[in-house]
Amino acid sequence: MNILFLSPGFPTEMTDFVRGLAEVGANVIGLGDQAEGAVPPKARMALSAYYQVSFSRPESVIETAAAISRQVRIDRVESLWEPLMILAAQVREALGIAGMTQLETIPFRDKEAMKQVLDSAGIRTPHHYSAKTMGGIWDALEKVGYPAIIKPISGAGSIDTHRVDGPSDVEAIAPSLRHIEEVSIEEFVDGEEFTFDTICANGNVLFYNICWYRPRPLLGKTNEWVSQQTLALRNPDVAELASGKQMGVQVLKAMNFRDGFTHMEWYLKSDGEAVFGEIGARPPGGRTVDAMNFASDVDLFRCWAEATVHGQLSEPLDRKFNAVTVFKRAIGQGHIQRYEGLDRLLAELEPWIVATELNPIGASRRNWKQQLIGDGMVVVRHPDLRVCTELADRVGTDLQIYAS
Ligand SMILES: Nc1ncnc2c1ncn2[C@@H]1O[C@H](COP(=O)(O)OP(=O)(O)O)[C@@H](O)[C@H]1O
Ligand SMILES: [Mg+2]
Repeated sequence: MNILFLSPGFPTEMTDFVRGLAEVGANVIGLGDQAEGAVPPKARMALSAYYQVSFSRPESVIETAAAISRQVRIDRVESLWEPLMILAAQVREALGIAGMTQLETIPFRDKEAMKQVLDSAGIRTPHHYSAKTMGGIWDALEKVGYPAIIKPISGAGSIDTHRVDGPSDVEAIAPSLRHIEEVSIEEFVDGEEFTFDTICANGNVLFYNICWYRPRPLLGKTNEWVSQQTLALRNPDVAELASGKQMGVQVLKAMNFRDGFTHMEWYLKSDGEAVFGEIGARPPGGRTVDAMNFASDVDLFRCWAEATVHGQLSEPLDRKFNAVTVFKRAIGQGHIQRYEGLDRLLAELEPWIVATELNPIGASRRNWKQQLIGDGMVVVRHPDLRVCTELADRVGTDLQIYAS
């Protein structure tokens, strides 16, 4: 199978998806906006050819793809990075290749279109409107009531997302909305937040996973002291989560999703009701695929490739652990000076700490508002959920990174 893969070298996890494709026997041709020399070796080694393009000029990407397809029969066009989903669909349509079309992709990118598709399928979404002006926002708030959420229509990573508890909150955030063309206004849904992630082939779910966000991402994004956790659950089949899992399968049907990775987020209210959050036709970011791999000692990069190339997974999945990524933010500004508590944690939590990737001493402190990983990540796993959360919370409180 000949696969045209958009952006094989960036973001970093793409290198593993490309590696997976080559391992399962695909011939992978890369199109990316990095210079060939900048493509990480793992991806470079998995590619039979690489063409540098400019993703900001879609016509030239389509032209390059068309030129390639005159030499080699292209069977699939793949992209697992959110900003390139529409472009991948345009390339497919230009080349006449099966797979998601632009019309099918738009509801995965535009949060209002997404909820309209799901509303007509009878799925419980938060009460929602979209607006392009302050007037539109006030009108929507009148109908939605308080508390409410205001967020970009095609946002990511909780950036520019606000909870508003009354008109004075709206006045306060109004200036920060000016650069956003269109926003979603939603009823604020109180509850815990979970994911429902899948790998599908031919419209069937071959693999699924549920992660628990601790705390809710918006809380993590507004409180710098929080060490945000993403916990891949060993048992996603407990009764409490059944409503979300069932909703997840209905959402995939309603969105007519057939092949590849999906990442859905949903809310579980205290009365047990599941409410839809959002869905992407791509894997979860924020190193979540790594957490899922640690939960089952599996290689889901390769599993995705198997599903894509062969339509099935070669091995049954055995969930052994709860696995959680704990993201750290340094205290202080400037450069990383020291870690406190790391040696003790490594000694005491052994063998449950399975990965430690901290921003190195001397490096500049990273912007925690712009990216989830912040100043590093520790992955902890344990078969027992309660113990796993205790160990993760210890990494949250007992490990500190200092910058100055
Ligand atoms: N309607 C809502 N009710 C409660 N919290 C919300 C709502 N919409 C968004 N949030 C909070 O904001 C976060 C980011 O919103 P989300 O829709 O997931 O956008 P993205 O992750 O693409 O930035 C969510 O994880 C949640 O914590
Ligand atoms: Mg989200």
